[in-house]
Amino acid sequence: MASYLTSPMMGRSYLTVRALVLIVTLLVVVEYFSLLQSAENADKHGPVVFRMLEPGDRVGYSRHVLQVVDPILYRTDRMVMVKVVSNRKVTMTTQTPVQSSGNVSLVPSSDLQQCSMIPPNLHGRFPVTVNDIPSMDDMSSMFPGLELGGRWSPKDCLAKHKVAIIVPYRDREPHLRAFLLNIHRFLQRQQVEYGIYIVEQSGTQPFNRAMLMNVGAAEALKQHEYQCFIFHDVDLLPEDDRNLYTCPIQPRHMSVSIDSFLYRLPYDDIFGGVSAMTVDQFRAVNGFSNLFWGWGGEDDDMANRLRVKKLFISRYPANIARYKMLKHGKEKANPERFKYLYSGAKRMARDGYNSLKYRKVDLMLKKLYTWVLVDLPHLKP
Ligand code: BGC
Repeated sequence: MASYLTSPMMGRSYLTVRALVLIVTLLVVVEYFSLLQSAENADKHGPVVFRMLEPGDRVGYSRHVLQVVDPILYRTDRMVMVKVVSNRKVTMTTQTPVQSSGNVSLVPSSDLQQCSMIPPNLHGRFPVTVNDIPSMDDMSSMFPGLELGGRWSPKDCLAKHKVAIIVPYRDREPHLRAFLLNIHRFLQRQQVEYGIYIVEQSGTQPFNRAMLMNVGAAEALKQHEYQCFIFHDVDLLPEDDRNLYTCPIQPRHMSVSIDSFLYRLPYDDIFGGVSAMTVDQFRAVNGFSNLFWGWGGEDDDMANRLRVKKLFISRYPANIARYKMLKHGKEKANPERFKYLYSGAKRMARDGYNSLKYRKVDLMLKKLYTWVLVDLPHLKP
């Protein structure tokens, strides 16, 4: 009897729940596709304009500005406009640098001309390669122009930028191969002079990404006179080569939109994933903190350091600064990260590049990269 009375009502509420579930699912699907679509449309219909900053421009007072080049390094007698007209074609009008400023000489030391400000062979958006990645040996023969240590410079012009790509690393060989294959192709199209530094943490204690990046900076500078550091997670592959791996006036957060975050910036001050800083900016903030063991917080601490030193995070537009993230398991979050974040500003002068200690277990100039294996000690807060 009871079941006879309740079943029509239960049937109705069951139907209502199903209808609600269906509506919510539809909304999620629509939102997902509209997000993808908006990125596509931005790329197709909203032409990207790279504008060279002029002396007198307000820089450093607003966030998320597109700063392609440092005007102090590359002054021209008039503005340079570059318009990206499609995914594949880049048209531009350029000027030759006409003068030097400060102690930077623009006169080439050889007969080679300086590379153009906007590299001529960019593809725009391109498909990253994630399947059928060759072995390290096979890959080595794919890049005959590389010097030992994964170093490269353009042969037909003088690079304007000397960039060290610093990759904190442990135990991700398939990711490393995919990264190397994609990044060498990408950087060579951008005509930057670069070296790849894979900094591996030995042992099994929690990963210290920030300290490894400090080590990478120190070791790279021992070898060459770099001007620019790009700190790069090994699992992120850039999808658009208009995302220039150079250092602008202000530090630049490069990995603005990542597929696994639905190509959305998670929060305004994020500085993790891939980020660019000049060597001078890196020194000015005393590098990264050495105290973040395990996942999370070390990049937020760097964002705080930048703010203390009145530096600002700049970004390329989301439809250019796109990345694919390679699949991996979830790392264990560091429960102490909030404590160190709160006290970060107080510690900044004594915890960082100037207090860095490590034991270099090995350093090898391999064909595709410079490999540094280190033991990291726990330093006192
Ligand atoms: C962490 C950062 C991380 C970000 C995005 C934050 O909660 O503190 O280290 O980069 O999430 O995953």
